[in-house]
Amino acid sequence: MPLHESVAPEPYPGIWPLIALHLAPQDEDMPAKASGRLQTTVESLTPGFAARRARAVLRSHLLKAQVNEDDAAEMEIVVAELVANAERYAAEPYELRIVSDRDVPIWCDVVDGSPGLRVVGQLLGRLRASKAADLPSLEENGRGLFLVHRLSGGRCAVYPAATSRSRAAGKAVGFALPVGDGIVCGST
Ligand SMILES: Nc1ncnc2c1ncn2[C@@H]1O[C@H](COP(=O)(O)OP(=O)(O)O)[C@@H](O)[C@H]1O
Ligand SMILES: [Mg+2]
Repeated sequence: MPLHESVAPEPYPGIWPLIALHLAPQDEDMPAKASGRLQTTVESLTPGFAARRARAVLRSHLLKAQVNEDDAAEMEIVVAELVANAERYAAEPYELRIVSDRDVPIWCDVVDGSPGLRVVGQLLGRLRASKAADLPSLEENGRGLFLVHRLSGGRCAVYPAATSRSRAAGKAVGFALPVGDGIVCGST
């Protein structure tokens, strides 16, 4: 069971188009069906302990949803890279958010207090547009976003966000989560 968890009753504005982009074809109508059944877990991250905490919270959500160990380990790497970036390049506060559809975690993001989207947006855009042969040169400029892109299968994005406590403008870098064995996201 996740520790120190607070649960928001509704997902935050603007996230659905991003999540919907990454749903399997059979789940395309999920946004319409989803109203009222999504939960967002919000975890404040304390600088210095943030990466460890984010990994532990995400891991507990994934294992509870029967995501296999290998996939969970990869998602821990992704979230640790995003938290490291937030601490290094962006202002506090930092938060981890996990969106679940009836207890199945489907999307995760790391919120920070710096609203500028341009640098991360451009880098993710280059990764999306790049062919496999280009990736080593991108990797030299920083491995973090490269890993986020690669391990999430390109299902990652940066978008405006406000931290839940201060409501101050910031941003989030988020990625789709693998759903557990035998669980079909969006099924009724
Ligand atoms: N949360 C963030 N806020 C602002 N800038 C960021 C953030 N995350 C990444 N960046 C920018 O994207 C660049 C690439 O990040 P990354 O791929 O993790 O490589 P590295 O951290 O090694 O520089 C960073 O150098 C930084 O300029
Ligand atoms: Mg980095």
